[in-house]
Amino acid sequence: MPGRIPQDFINDLIDRSDIVEIISSRIQLKKAGREYKACCPFHGEKTASFTVSPEKGFYHCFGCGAHGTVIGFLMEHDRLEFIEAVEELASLNGVDVPREAGNAPSSPTSPLYDLIEQATSVYRERLRENPAAIGYLKSRGLDGDTTARFQIGYAPAGWDFLLKRFGSNDESRDRLLKTGLVLRNEEGRVYDRFRDRIIFPIRDSRGRTVGFGGRVMDQTEPKYLNSPETPVFHKGRELYGLFEARRANRKLDRLIVVEGYMDVVALARHGITNAVATLGTATTPDHLQRLFRAGNEIIFCFDGDRAGREAAWRALQVTLPELREGRQVRFLFLADGQDPDSMVNEVGPEAFAKLVEQSDPLSEYLLEHLKAETDLGSMDGQARLAELARPLVNRIPEGVYRELLLERLATEVGLSAERLTRLLSDAGAAKPRSAEPVVRSSQRVTHGRPGPVRQAVTLVLHQPSTASLVRVPEGFDELDKPGLQLLRDLLAAAEDTPDIKPARLAESLADHPDGGGHLTKLLTLELPLDEESDWEAQLQDTLDGIVRDDLERRFAELADKANHGLTDAEKAEFRELQEQIAGPRSQAG
Ligand code: UTP
Ligand code: MN
Repeated sequence: MPGRIPQDFINDLIDRSDIVEIISSRIQLKKAGREYKACCPFHGEKTASFTVSPEKGFYHCFGCGAHGTVIGFLMEHDRLEFIEAVEELASLNGVDVPREAGNAPSSPTSPLYDLIEQATSVYRERLRENPAAIGYLKSRGLDGDTTARFQIGYAPAGWDFLLKRFGSNDESRDRLLKTGLVLRNEEGRVYDRFRDRIIFPIRDSRGRTVGFGGRVMDQTEPKYLNSPETPVFHKGRELYGLFEARRANRKLDRLIVVEGYMDVVALARHGITNAVATLGTATTPDHLQRLFRAGNEIIFCFDGDRAGREAAWRALQVTLPELREGRQVRFLFLADGQDPDSMVNEVGPEAFAKLVEQSDPLSEYLLEHLKAETDLGSMDGQARLAELARPLVNRIPEGVYRELLLERLATEVGLSAERLTRLLSDAGAAKPRSAEPVVRSSQRVTHGRPGPVRQAVTLVLHQPSTASLVRVPEGFDELDKPGLQLLRDLLAAAEDTPDIKPARLAESLADHPDGGGHLTKLLTLELPLDEESDWEAQLQDTLDGIVRDDLERRFAELADKANHGLTDAEKAEFRELQEQIAGPRSQAG
Protein backbone atom coordinates (compact mmCIF):
# COMPACT_ATOMS: atom_id res chain seq x y z
CA MET A 1 0.00 0.00 0.00
CA PRO A 2 1.22 3.51 -0.66
CA GLY A 3 2.04 5.51 2.49
CA ARG A 4 -0.53 7.25 4.62
CA ILE A 5 -2.21 10.37 3.37
CA PRO A 6 -1.19 13.21 5.69
CA GLN A 7 -4.10 14.40 7.83
CA ASP A 8 -3.22 18.03 7.09
CA PHE A 9 -3.74 17.39 3.44
CA ILE A 10 -7.15 15.88 4.08
CA ASN A 11 -8.21 18.76 6.32
CA ASP A 12 -7.01 21.21 3.75
CA LEU A 13 -8.83 19.35 1.01
CA ILE A 14 -12.09 19.52 2.96
CA ASP A 15 -11.58 23.23 3.60
CA ARG A 16 -10.92 24.14 0.05
CA SER A 17 -13.67 21.98 -1.44
CA ASP A 18 -17.00 23.58 -2.17
CA ILE A 19 -19.39 21.16 -0.50
CA VAL A 20 -22.39 22.80 -2.13
CA GLU A 21 -20.91 22.46 -5.57
CA ILE A 22 -19.97 18.84 -5.06
CA ILE A 23 -23.27 17.80 -3.56
CA SER A 24 -25.32 19.79 -6.05
CA SER A 25 -23.59 18.04 -8.90
CA ARG A 26 -25.14 14.86 -7.56
CA ILE A 27 -28.48 15.89 -6.15
CA GLN A 28 -30.63 18.96 -6.61
CA LEU A 29 -30.11 21.52 -3.85
CA LYS A 30 -32.32 24.48 -3.08
CA LYS A 31 -31.05 27.54 -1.32
CA ALA A 32 -32.74 28.19 2.02
CA GLY A 33 -31.20 31.13 3.85
CA ARG A 34 -27.56 30.43 4.56
CA GLU A 35 -28.04 26.75 3.92
CA TYR A 36 -29.20 24.49 1.15
CA LYS A 37 -31.90 21.90 1.28
CA ALA A 38 -32.84 18.77 -0.60
CA CYS A 39 -34.71 15.56 -0.27
CA CYS A 40 -32.26 13.26 1.40
CA PRO A 41 -30.46 10.98 -1.05
CA PHE A 42 -29.88 8.41 1.67
CA HIS A 43 -33.45 7.61 2.54
CA GLY A 44 -36.73 7.93 0.71
CA GLU A 45 -38.58 11.10 1.65
CA LYS A 46 -40.92 13.64 0.16
CA THR A 47 -40.08 16.65 2.31
CA ALA A 48 -36.59 18.07 2.26
CA SER A 49 -34.85 17.33 5.54
CA PHE A 50 -31.37 17.12 4.09
CA THR A 51 -29.41 20.33 4.65
CA VAL A 52 -26.00 21.46 3.53
CA SER A 53 -24.21 24.20 5.37
CA PRO A 54 -21.40 25.75 3.31
CA GLU A 55 -20.25 27.70 6.37
CA LYS A 56 -19.82 24.60 8.43
CA GLY A 57 -18.70 22.49 5.50
CA PHE A 58 -21.17 19.92 6.65
CA TYR A 59 -24.29 18.09 5.59
CA HIS A 60 -26.95 16.75 7.85
CA CYS A 61 -30.24 14.96 7.38
CA PHE A 62 -32.81 15.53 10.07
CA GLY A 63 -34.77 12.58 8.82
CA CYS A 64 -32.26 9.76 8.88
CA GLY A 65 -29.37 11.30 10.76
CA ALA A 66 -26.85 10.97 7.93
CA HIS A 67 -24.20 13.64 8.30
CA GLY A 68 -20.60 14.41 7.55
CA THR A 69 -18.10 16.34 5.54
CA VAL A 70 -17.77 16.35 1.81
CA ILE A 71 -15.61 13.23 2.07
CA GLY A 72 -18.31 11.44 4.01
CA PHE A 73 -20.81 12.45 1.39
CA LEU A 74 -18.71 11.05 -1.42
CA MET A 75 -18.17 7.82 0.48
CA GLU A 76 -21.82 7.38 1.13
CA HIS A 77 -23.30 8.72 -2.06
CA ASP A 78 -20.79 7.39 -4.55
CA ARG A 79 -20.16 4.31 -2.44
CA LEU A 80 -16.46 4.97 -2.18
CA GLU A 81 -13.92 3.82 0.33
CA PHE A 82 -12.25 6.59 2.30
CA ILE A 83 -9.10 6.66 0.18
CA GLU A 84 -11.13 6.62 -3.00
CA ALA A 85 -13.19 9.57 -1.78
CA VAL A 86 -10.04 11.51 -0.94
CA GLU A 87 -8.64 10.73 -4.36
CA GLU A 88 -11.85 11.78 -6.06
CA LEU A 89 -11.93 15.03 -4.14
CA ALA A 90 -8.29 15.71 -4.87
CA SER A 91 -8.81 15.21 -8.55
CA LEU A 92 -11.82 17.53 -8.50
CA ASN A 93 -9.51 20.08 -6.95
CA GLY A 94 -6.79 19.30 -9.46
CA VAL A 95 -4.22 18.25 -6.87
CA ASP A 96 -2.27 15.06 -6.32
CA VAL A 97 -2.65 13.05 -3.15
CA PRO A 98 0.63 13.10 -1.24
CA ARG A 99 1.69 10.06 0.72
CA GLU A 100 3.55 10.25 3.97
CA ALA A 101 6.41 7.90 3.23
CA GLY A 102 7.01 9.54 -0.11
CA ASN A 103 5.52 7.62 -2.99
CA ALA A 104 4.86 4.01 -3.65
CA PRO A 105 8.40 2.61 -4.08
CA SER A 106 9.53 3.43 -0.56
CA SER A 107 6.26 2.47 1.08
CA PRO A 108 6.91 -0.38 3.51
CA THR A 109 3.78 -2.34 2.71
CA SER A 110 3.76 -2.39 -1.06
CA PRO A 111 6.30 -5.23 -1.42
CA LEU A 112 3.96 -7.31 0.71
CA TYR A 113 1.13 -6.81 -1.74
CA ASP A 114 3.41 -7.79 -4.59
CA LEU A 115 4.56 -10.87 -2.80
CA ILE A 116 1.03 -11.99 -1.92
CA GLU A 117 0.01 -11.41 -5.52
CA GLN A 118 2.84 -13.61 -6.71
CA ALA A 119 1.86 -16.31 -4.25
CA THR A 120 -1.69 -16.13 -5.57
CA SER A 121 -0.54 -16.87 -9.08
CA VAL A 122 1.73 -19.75 -8.16
CA TYR A 123 -1.11 -21.27 -6.14
CA ARG A 124 -3.30 -20.86 -9.22
CA GLU A 125 -0.71 -22.63 -11.34
CA ARG A 126 -0.50 -25.46 -8.86
CA LEU A 127 -4.23 -25.95 -8.94
CA ARG A 128 -4.20 -26.34 -12.70
CA GLU A 129 -1.59 -29.07 -12.36
CA ASN A 130 -3.30 -30.94 -9.59
CA PRO A 131 -6.13 -33.29 -10.57
CA ALA A 132 -6.92 -34.15 -6.97
CA ALA A 133 -7.48 -30.52 -6.06
CA ILE A 134 -9.53 -29.89 -9.19
CA GLY A 135 -11.49 -33.02 -8.42
CA TYR A 136 -12.19 -31.79 -4.92
CA LEU A 137 -13.53 -28.45 -6.19
CA LYS A 138 -15.67 -30.25 -8.74
CA SER A 139 -17.04 -32.51 -6.05
CA ARG A 140 -18.10 -29.35 -4.26
CA GLY A 141 -20.00 -28.26 -7.33
CA LEU A 142 -17.60 -25.56 -8.54
CA ASP A 143 -16.69 -24.89 -12.13
CA GLY A 144 -13.61 -23.39 -13.73
CA ASP A 145 -15.24 -20.03 -14.28
CA THR A 146 -16.10 -19.52 -10.62
CA THR A 147 -12.72 -20.82 -9.56
CA ALA A 148 -11.05 -18.30 -11.83
CA ARG A 149 -13.27 -15.46 -10.72
CA PHE A 150 -12.26 -16.02 -7.11
CA GLN A 151 -8.68 -16.92 -8.07
CA ILE A 152 -8.97 -20.11 -6.09
CA GLY A 153 -5.70 -22.01 -5.97
CA TYR A 154 -3.92 -24.90 -4.37
CA ALA A 155 -0.95 -24.92 -1.99
CA PRO A 156 1.01 -28.11 -2.56
CA ALA A 157 2.07 -30.43 0.21
CA GLY A 158 5.58 -29.97 1.61
CA TRP A 159 7.12 -27.42 3.93
CA ASP A 160 8.91 -25.09 1.60
CA PHE A 161 7.00 -24.50 -1.61
CA LEU A 162 6.74 -20.74 -1.16
CA LEU A 163 9.91 -20.56 0.83
CA LYS A 164 12.00 -21.96 -2.02
CA ARG A 165 10.41 -19.66 -4.55
CA PHE A 166 10.23 -16.38 -2.67
CA GLY A 167 12.52 -16.71 0.34
CA SER A 168 15.94 -17.42 -1.06
CA ASN A 169 17.78 -14.77 0.98
CA ASP A 170 17.35 -13.25 4.42
CA GLU A 171 15.66 -10.14 3.17
CA SER A 172 13.08 -11.91 1.02
CA ARG A 173 12.48 -14.45 3.76
CA ASP A 174 11.75 -11.71 6.25
CA ARG A 175 9.31 -10.22 3.81
CA LEU A 176 7.64 -13.57 3.39
CA LEU A 177 7.36 -13.87 7.16
CA LYS A 178 5.65 -10.49 7.23
CA THR A 179 2.95 -11.71 4.88
CA GLY A 180 2.22 -14.56 7.24
CA LEU A 181 2.59 -17.03 4.39
CA VAL A 182 5.53 -18.65 6.12
CA LEU A 183 6.18 -18.90 9.82
CA ARG A 184 9.06 -19.63 12.13
CA ASN A 185 8.79 -22.31 14.79
CA GLU A 186 10.42 -22.33 18.23
CA GLU A 187 13.59 -23.91 16.94
CA GLY A 188 13.87 -21.12 14.42
CA ARG A 189 12.91 -23.25 11.46
CA VAL A 190 10.92 -21.41 8.80
CA TYR A 191 8.17 -23.19 6.85
CA ASP A 192 5.09 -22.65 4.70
CA ARG A 193 1.83 -21.99 6.47
CA PHE A 194 -0.44 -23.42 3.78
CA ARG A 195 0.31 -27.00 2.80
CA ASP A 196 -1.86 -29.32 0.77
CA ARG A 197 -4.82 -26.99 0.98
CA ILE A 198 -7.30 -25.34 -1.36
CA ILE A 199 -6.49 -21.64 -1.31
CA PHE A 200 -9.08 -18.87 -1.18
CA PRO A 201 -7.47 -15.48 -1.80
CA ILE A 202 -8.99 -12.66 0.24
CA ARG A 203 -9.04 -9.39 -1.62
CA ASP A 204 -9.44 -5.90 -0.23
CA SER A 205 -11.79 -3.30 -1.63
CA ARG A 206 -9.36 -2.42 -4.38
CA GLY A 207 -8.88 -5.99 -5.45
CA ARG A 208 -5.45 -6.52 -3.93
CA THR A 209 -5.01 -9.89 -2.34
CA VAL A 210 -4.21 -9.33 1.31
CA GLY A 211 -4.46 -12.82 2.78
CA PHE A 212 -5.67 -16.36 2.25
CA GLY A 213 -7.93 -18.97 3.65
CA GLY A 214 -6.84 -22.55 3.10
CA ARG A 215 -9.05 -25.62 3.32
CA VAL A 216 -8.01 -29.23 3.69
CA MET A 217 -9.46 -31.67 1.18
CA ASP A 218 -10.18 -34.35 3.76
CA GLN A 219 -11.21 -34.55 7.39
CA THR A 220 -7.93 -33.23 8.80
CA GLU A 221 -8.16 -30.59 11.50
CA PRO A 222 -8.16 -27.71 11.42
CA LYS A 223 -10.49 -27.53 8.45
CA TYR A 224 -9.46 -23.99 7.58
CA LEU A 225 -6.28 -22.06 8.14
CA ASN A 226 -6.26 -18.33 7.65
CA SER A 227 -3.58 -15.71 7.16
CA PRO A 228 -2.75 -14.03 10.47
CA GLU A 229 -3.16 -10.31 11.05
CA THR A 230 -0.46 -8.56 9.05
CA PRO A 231 0.26 -4.96 8.08
CA VAL A 232 -2.02 -5.48 5.08
CA PHE A 233 -4.62 -7.90 6.44
CA HIS A 234 -7.11 -7.17 9.19
CA LYS A 235 -9.71 -9.86 9.70
CA GLY A 236 -12.17 -7.60 11.43
CA ARG A 237 -12.26 -5.31 8.42
CA GLU A 238 -12.18 -7.50 5.37
CA LEU A 239 -15.15 -9.27 3.88
CA TYR A 240 -14.48 -12.24 1.71
CA GLY A 241 -16.11 -11.79 -1.70
CA LEU A 242 -16.90 -8.09 -1.44
CA PHE A 243 -14.53 -7.13 -4.20
CA GLU A 244 -15.88 -9.89 -6.43
CA ALA A 245 -19.47 -8.92 -5.62
CA ARG A 246 -18.86 -5.31 -6.52
CA ARG A 247 -17.20 -6.34 -9.71
CA ALA A 248 -19.99 -8.67 -10.71
CA ASN A 249 -22.74 -6.12 -10.06
CA ARG A 250 -22.71 -2.69 -11.56
CA LYS A 251 -25.12 -1.64 -8.89
CA LEU A 252 -25.09 -3.54 -5.67
CA ASP A 253 -28.17 -2.86 -3.60
CA ARG A 254 -28.40 -6.00 -1.61
CA LEU A 255 -25.68 -8.03 0.07
CA ILE A 256 -26.01 -11.45 1.59
CA VAL A 257 -23.69 -12.02 4.52
CA VAL A 258 -22.80 -15.66 5.01
CA GLU A 259 -20.37 -17.49 7.26
CA GLY A 260 -17.95 -19.29 5.02
CA TYR A 261 -15.72 -19.07 1.99
CA MET A 262 -17.49 -22.00 0.41
CA ASP A 263 -20.86 -20.33 0.90
CA VAL A 264 -19.79 -17.25 -1.03
CA VAL A 265 -18.27 -19.27 -3.82
CA ALA A 266 -21.11 -21.77 -4.11
CA LEU A 267 -23.69 -19.01 -4.29
CA ALA A 268 -21.65 -17.23 -6.98
CA ARG A 269 -21.45 -20.49 -8.91
CA HIS A 270 -25.26 -20.45 -9.00
CA GLY A 271 -25.41 -16.86 -10.16
CA ILE A 272 -26.00 -15.34 -6.73
CA THR A 273 -23.06 -12.98 -6.91
CA ASN A 274 -23.80 -10.68 -4.00
CA ALA A 275 -22.71 -12.82 -1.08
CA VAL A 276 -19.83 -11.94 1.24
CA ALA A 277 -18.43 -13.66 4.30
CA THR A 278 -16.80 -12.53 7.50
CA LEU A 279 -13.56 -14.39 7.98
CA GLY A 280 -14.37 -16.75 10.79
CA THR A 281 -14.94 -13.78 13.10
CA ALA A 282 -18.05 -12.16 14.48
CA THR A 283 -19.50 -9.27 12.49
CA THR A 284 -17.73 -6.06 13.48
CA PRO A 285 -18.80 -2.41 13.23
CA ASP A 286 -16.15 -2.02 10.54
CA HIS A 287 -17.83 -4.76 8.55
CA LEU A 288 -21.16 -3.07 8.89
CA GLN A 289 -19.88 0.22 7.66
CA ARG A 290 -18.31 -1.41 4.66
CA LEU A 291 -21.45 -3.34 3.91
CA PHE A 292 -23.66 -0.29 4.03
CA ARG A 293 -21.22 1.58 1.89
CA ALA A 294 -21.67 -1.10 -0.72
CA GLY A 295 -25.45 -1.48 -0.56
CA ASN A 296 -28.57 -0.49 1.32
CA GLU A 297 -29.92 -3.89 2.09
CA ILE A 298 -28.12 -6.52 4.09
CA ILE A 299 -29.31 -10.03 4.61
CA PHE A 300 -27.55 -12.00 7.27
CA CYS A 301 -27.73 -15.67 6.56
CA PHE A 302 -26.92 -18.01 9.41
CA ASP A 303 -27.16 -21.65 10.24
CA GLY A 304 -30.18 -22.55 12.27
CA ASP A 305 -28.05 -24.11 15.00
CA ARG A 306 -27.21 -22.51 18.30
CA ALA A 307 -23.92 -21.08 17.13
CA GLY A 308 -25.69 -19.55 14.15
CA ARG A 309 -28.35 -17.98 16.34
CA GLU A 310 -25.76 -16.56 18.67
CA ALA A 311 -23.83 -15.12 15.76
CA ALA A 312 -27.03 -13.61 14.41
CA TRP A 313 -27.88 -11.93 17.68
CA ARG A 314 -24.40 -10.47 17.87
CA ALA A 315 -24.70 -9.26 14.31
CA LEU A 316 -27.99 -7.59 15.16
CA GLN A 317 -26.45 -5.70 18.02
CA VAL A 318 -23.61 -4.43 15.89
CA THR A 319 -26.10 -3.42 13.23
CA LEU A 320 -28.40 -1.31 15.39
CA PRO A 321 -26.24 1.84 15.43
CA GLU A 322 -26.07 1.74 11.65
CA LEU A 323 -29.79 1.60 11.06
CA ARG A 324 -31.65 4.38 9.41
CA GLU A 325 -34.41 4.88 6.98
CA GLY A 326 -33.57 3.61 3.55
CA ARG A 327 -31.43 0.85 4.97
CA GLN A 328 -32.82 -2.61 5.36
CA VAL A 329 -31.48 -5.50 7.37
CA ARG A 330 -32.94 -8.97 7.34
CA PHE A 331 -32.11 -12.34 8.79
CA LEU A 332 -32.34 -15.68 7.13
CA PHE A 333 -32.05 -18.77 9.30
CA LEU A 334 -31.38 -22.03 7.57
CA ALA A 335 -32.34 -25.39 8.98
CA ASP A 336 -29.95 -26.93 11.45
CA GLY A 337 -27.15 -28.63 9.57
CA GLN A 338 -27.60 -26.58 6.41
CA ASP A 339 -25.46 -23.73 5.20
CA PRO A 340 -25.93 -21.56 2.11
CA ASP A 341 -23.55 -23.78 0.16
CA SER A 342 -25.42 -27.01 0.88
CA MET A 343 -28.74 -25.24 0.56
CA VAL A 344 -28.18 -23.69 -2.84
CA ASN A 345 -26.78 -26.94 -4.14
CA GLU A 346 -29.80 -28.77 -2.85
CA VAL A 347 -32.68 -26.49 -3.81
CA GLY A 348 -31.16 -24.40 -6.60
CA PRO A 349 -30.75 -20.65 -6.96
CA GLU A 350 -34.42 -19.76 -7.52
CA ALA A 351 -35.58 -21.45 -4.37
CA PHE A 352 -32.67 -19.97 -2.47
CA ALA A 353 -33.54 -16.50 -3.75
CA LYS A 354 -37.07 -17.09 -2.53
CA LEU A 355 -35.78 -17.88 0.93
CA VAL A 356 -33.84 -14.63 0.85
CA GLU A 357 -36.99 -12.78 -0.17
CA GLN A 358 -38.86 -14.27 2.73
CA SER A 359 -36.23 -13.59 5.35
CA ASP A 360 -37.22 -11.82 8.56
CA PRO A 361 -36.88 -8.06 8.81
CA LEU A 362 -34.57 -7.07 11.65
CA SER A 363 -37.48 -5.70 13.66
CA GLU A 364 -39.28 -9.00 13.39
CA TYR A 365 -36.26 -10.99 14.45
CA LEU A 366 -35.56 -8.64 17.32
CA LEU A 367 -39.10 -8.91 18.62
CA GLU A 368 -39.24 -12.65 18.20
CA HIS A 369 -35.99 -12.98 20.08
CA LEU A 370 -37.19 -10.78 22.94
CA LYS A 371 -40.54 -12.48 23.06
CA ALA A 372 -38.86 -15.84 23.33
CA GLU A 373 -37.21 -14.57 26.49
CA THR A 374 -40.33 -13.23 28.10
CA ASP A 375 -43.82 -14.39 28.85
CA LEU A 376 -45.99 -11.82 27.15
CA GLY A 377 -49.12 -13.29 28.65
CA SER A 378 -48.09 -11.93 32.01
CA MET A 379 -47.84 -8.38 33.15
CA ASP A 380 -44.29 -8.87 34.31
CA GLY A 381 -43.48 -10.27 30.92
CA GLN A 382 -44.65 -7.18 29.11
CA ALA A 383 -42.69 -4.95 31.41
CA ARG A 384 -39.68 -7.15 30.98
CA LEU A 385 -39.99 -6.97 27.22
CA ALA A 386 -39.92 -3.20 27.42
CA GLU A 387 -36.92 -3.43 29.72
CA LEU A 388 -35.03 -5.78 27.44
CA ALA A 389 -35.82 -3.65 24.43
CA ARG A 390 -34.59 -0.44 25.97
CA PRO A 391 -30.83 -0.87 25.54
CA LEU A 392 -31.39 -2.19 22.03
CA VAL A 393 -33.71 0.54 20.86
CA ASN A 394 -31.43 3.14 22.37
CA ARG A 395 -28.62 1.98 20.13
CA ILE A 396 -30.59 2.88 17.04
CA PRO A 397 -30.00 6.46 15.89
CA GLU A 398 -33.03 8.69 16.26
CA GLY A 399 -35.07 8.79 13.12
CA VAL A 400 -37.76 7.11 11.18
CA TYR A 401 -36.32 3.64 11.55
CA ARG A 402 -36.32 3.85 15.30
CA GLU A 403 -39.85 5.21 15.23
CA LEU A 404 -41.05 2.31 13.16
CA LEU A 405 -39.42 -0.21 15.41
CA LEU A 406 -40.92 1.45 18.47
CA GLU A 407 -44.27 1.35 16.81
CA ARG A 408 -43.97 -2.40 16.37
CA LEU A 409 -42.70 -2.90 19.86
CA ALA A 410 -45.48 -0.76 21.24
CA THR A 411 -48.07 -2.91 19.55
CA GLU A 412 -46.56 -5.94 21.20
CA VAL A 413 -46.74 -4.50 24.69
CA GLY A 414 -50.01 -2.71 24.06
CA LEU A 415 -48.83 0.88 24.34
CA SER A 416 -48.73 3.80 21.95
CA ALA A 417 -45.36 4.35 20.36
CA GLU A 418 -44.82 7.84 21.72
CA ARG A 419 -45.65 6.67 25.18
CA LEU A 420 -43.36 3.73 24.90
CA THR A 421 -40.63 6.06 23.66
CA ARG A 422 -40.93 8.14 26.77
CA LEU A 423 -41.12 5.07 28.86
CA LEU A 424 -37.96 3.70 27.38
CA SER A 425 -36.04 6.90 27.83
CA ASP A 426 -37.43 7.60 31.29
CA ALA A 427 -37.59 4.16 32.73
CA GLY A 428 -34.02 4.12 33.94
CA ALA A 429 -34.15 7.61 35.37
CA ALA A 430 -37.62 7.48 36.85
CA LYS A 431 -37.79 8.17 40.55
CA PRO A 432 -40.86 8.11 42.67
CA ARG A 433 -41.75 11.75 42.79
CA SER A 434 -44.54 11.64 45.36
CA ALA A 435 -41.79 11.73 47.98
CA GLU A 436 -40.75 15.19 46.84
CA PRO A 437 -41.56 17.85 49.42
CA VAL A 438 -44.35 20.13 48.31
CA VAL A 439 -42.51 23.20 49.59
CA ARG A 440 -40.32 22.99 46.55
CA SER A 441 -43.29 23.75 44.37
CA SER A 442 -42.77 27.49 44.58
CA GLN A 443 -39.19 27.11 43.48
CA ARG A 444 -40.41 24.97 40.66
CA VAL A 445 -42.59 27.76 39.45
CA THR A 446 -39.82 30.29 39.21
CA HIS A 447 -36.67 28.39 38.34
CA GLY A 448 -35.31 26.43 35.46
CA ARG A 449 -37.00 25.36 32.27
CA PRO A 450 -40.73 25.66 32.65
CA GLY A 451 -42.38 22.34 33.29
CA PRO A 452 -45.79 21.56 31.88
CA VAL A 453 -47.61 22.74 34.99
CA ARG A 454 -45.95 26.12 34.86
CA GLN A 455 -46.56 26.32 31.14
CA ALA A 456 -50.24 25.68 31.67
CA VAL A 457 -50.42 28.22 34.50
CA THR A 458 -48.74 30.84 32.32
CA LEU A 459 -51.08 30.10 29.49
CA VAL A 460 -54.28 30.33 31.47
CA LEU A 461 -53.04 33.46 33.15
CA HIS A 462 -52.37 35.23 29.88
CA GLN A 463 -55.37 33.82 28.04
CA PRO A 464 -58.08 33.21 30.63
CA SER A 465 -60.68 32.62 27.94
CA THR A 466 -59.04 29.38 26.91
CA ALA A 467 -59.92 27.74 30.23
CA SER A 468 -63.53 27.21 29.31
CA LEU A 469 -62.62 25.77 25.94
CA VAL A 470 -60.47 22.87 27.07
CA ARG A 471 -61.48 19.50 28.36
CA VAL A 472 -59.95 18.54 31.66
CA PRO A 473 -58.42 15.12 31.11
CA GLU A 474 -59.47 12.15 33.17
CA GLY A 475 -57.39 11.76 36.29
CA PHE A 476 -56.31 15.38 36.27
CA ASP A 477 -58.28 16.28 39.36
CA GLU A 478 -56.80 13.45 41.36
CA LEU A 479 -53.17 14.18 40.52
CA ASP A 480 -50.84 15.14 43.29
CA LYS A 481 -48.12 17.23 41.79
CA PRO A 482 -46.42 20.46 42.85
CA GLY A 483 -48.29 23.50 41.59
CA LEU A 484 -51.18 21.48 40.34
CA GLN A 485 -53.70 22.69 42.85
CA LEU A 486 -52.88 26.24 41.83
CA LEU A 487 -53.44 25.31 38.21
CA ARG A 488 -56.78 23.68 38.98
CA ASP A 489 -57.99 26.70 40.91
CA LEU A 490 -56.72 29.04 38.25
CA LEU A 491 -58.59 27.08 35.61
CA ALA A 492 -61.77 27.18 37.68
CA ALA A 493 -61.50 30.92 38.23
CA ALA A 494 -60.81 31.60 34.58
CA GLU A 495 -63.67 29.40 33.52
CA ASP A 496 -66.05 31.33 35.75
CA THR A 497 -64.94 34.67 34.35
CA PRO A 498 -63.52 34.15 30.86
CA ASP A 499 -63.21 37.90 30.23
CA ILE A 500 -61.20 38.62 33.32
CA LYS A 501 -58.06 40.64 32.82
CA PRO A 502 -54.90 38.64 33.52
CA ALA A 503 -53.70 40.99 36.22
CA ARG A 504 -56.96 40.67 38.09
CA LEU A 505 -56.89 36.90 37.79
CA ALA A 506 -53.38 36.82 39.22
CA GLU A 507 -54.39 39.06 42.05
CA SER A 508 -57.42 36.99 42.92
CA LEU A 509 -55.18 34.00 43.56
CA ALA A 510 -52.23 35.81 45.08
CA ASP A 511 -52.79 34.18 48.46
CA HIS A 512 -53.03 30.67 47.08
CA PRO A 513 -50.81 28.38 49.24
CA ASP A 514 -49.49 26.49 46.22
CA GLY A 515 -47.37 29.36 44.90
CA GLY A 516 -50.03 32.01 44.22
CA GLY A 517 -47.59 34.74 45.13
CA HIS A 518 -45.66 34.04 41.96
CA LEU A 519 -48.52 34.64 39.60
CA THR A 520 -47.92 38.35 39.20
CA LYS A 521 -44.31 37.63 38.44
CA LEU A 522 -45.34 35.17 35.77
CA LEU A 523 -47.49 37.88 34.32
CA THR A 524 -44.50 40.07 33.67
CA LEU A 525 -42.98 37.33 31.57
CA GLU A 526 -43.81 37.13 27.98
CA LEU A 527 -46.13 34.41 26.93
CA PRO A 528 -43.74 31.68 25.84
CA LEU A 529 -45.73 31.14 22.69
CA ASP A 530 -45.84 33.07 19.50
CA GLU A 531 -48.79 35.15 18.39
CA GLU A 532 -50.08 32.65 15.90
CA SER A 533 -50.25 29.88 18.43
CA ASP A 534 -53.44 28.04 18.89
CA TRP A 535 -53.65 28.64 22.64
CA GLU A 536 -56.58 26.41 23.17
CA ALA A 537 -54.81 23.47 21.55
CA GLN A 538 -51.61 24.29 23.41
CA LEU A 539 -53.37 24.29 26.72
CA GLN A 540 -55.18 21.08 25.90
CA ASP A 541 -51.93 19.38 24.93
CA THR A 542 -50.22 20.59 28.04
CA LEU A 543 -52.98 19.35 30.32
CA ASP A 544 -53.10 16.01 28.55
CA GLY A 545 -49.33 15.82 28.82
CA ILE A 546 -49.42 16.37 32.57
CA VAL A 547 -51.69 13.40 33.08
CA ARG A 548 -49.86 11.25 30.62
CA ASP A 549 -46.48 12.03 32.19
CA ASP A 550 -47.78 10.89 35.47
CA LEU A 551 -49.20 7.66 34.12
CA GLU A 552 -45.99 6.92 32.34
CA ARG A 553 -43.87 7.74 35.33
CA ARG A 554 -45.89 5.31 37.38
CA PHE A 555 -45.82 2.74 34.59
CA ALA A 556 -42.04 3.03 34.34
CA GLU A 557 -41.76 2.69 38.08
CA LEU A 558 -43.74 -0.53 38.00
CA ALA A 559 -41.90 -1.77 34.94
CA ASP A 560 -38.61 -1.26 36.74
CA LYS A 561 -39.95 -3.00 39.77
CA ALA A 562 -41.36 -5.85 37.75
CA ASN A 563 -37.92 -7.39 37.57
CA HIS A 564 -38.09 -8.00 41.28
CA GLY A 565 -41.74 -8.95 41.26
CA LEU A 566 -44.96 -6.99 41.69
CA THR A 567 -47.65 -7.40 44.30
CA ASP A 568 -51.09 -8.36 43.06
CA ALA A 569 -52.32 -4.82 43.63
CA GLU A 570 -49.43 -3.45 41.66
CA LYS A 571 -50.09 -5.87 38.86
CA ALA A 572 -53.67 -4.74 38.70
CA GLU A 573 -52.56 -1.14 38.67
CA PHE A 574 -50.05 -1.93 35.98
CA ARG A 575 -52.71 -3.51 33.83
CA GLU A 576 -54.98 -0.57 34.30
CA LEU A 577 -52.24 1.90 33.50
CA GLN A 578 -51.52 0.04 30.37
CA GLU A 579 -55.08 0.33 29.27
CA GLN A 580 -55.23 3.99 30.18
CA ILE A 581 -52.05 4.79 28.34
CA ALA A 582 -53.08 2.85 25.31
CA GLY A 583 -56.68 3.96 25.42
CA PRO A 584 -56.83 7.64 24.43
CA ARG A 585 -54.63 6.97 21.46
CA SER A 586 -56.91 4.47 19.87
CA GLN A 587 -59.71 6.99 20.23
CA ALA A 588 -57.64 9.74 18.72
CA GLY A 589 -56.89 7.32 15.90
P1 UTP B 1 -17.69 -23.64 8.31
O1 UTP B 1 -17.17 -24.80 9.06
O2 UTP B 1 -19.14 -23.37 8.28
O3 UTP B 1 -17.07 -23.70 6.88
O4 UTP B 1 -16.93 -22.37 8.85
P2 UTP B 1 -17.72 -23.75 5.46
O5 UTP B 1 -17.46 -22.49 4.78
O6 UTP B 1 -19.11 -24.25 5.50
O7 UTP B 1 -16.76 -24.80 4.80
P3 UTP B 1 -17.08 -26.19 4.17
O8 UTP B 1 -18.43 -26.11 3.53
O9 UTP B 1 -17.02 -27.19 5.26
O10 UTP B 1 -15.96 -26.31 3.21
C1 UTP B 1 -17.29 -21.09 8.40
C2 UTP B 1 -16.08 -20.22 8.32
O11 UTP B 1 -15.40 -20.20 9.56
C3 UTP B 1 -14.00 -20.13 9.38
C4 UTP B 1 -13.80 -20.03 7.89
O12 UTP B 1 -13.76 -18.67 7.51
C5 UTP B 1 -15.03 -20.71 7.36
O13 UTP B 1 -15.32 -20.35 6.02
N1 UTP B 1 -13.33 -21.32 9.90
C6 UTP B 1 -13.95 -22.50 10.04
C7 UTP B 1 -12.00 -21.21 10.24
O14 UTP B 1 -11.41 -20.14 10.13
N2 UTP B 1 -11.34 -22.32 10.70
C8 UTP B 1 -11.94 -23.53 10.81
O15 UTP B 1 -11.29 -24.51 11.20
C9 UTP B 1 -13.29 -23.61 10.48
MN1 MN C 1 -20.18 -25.52 4.34
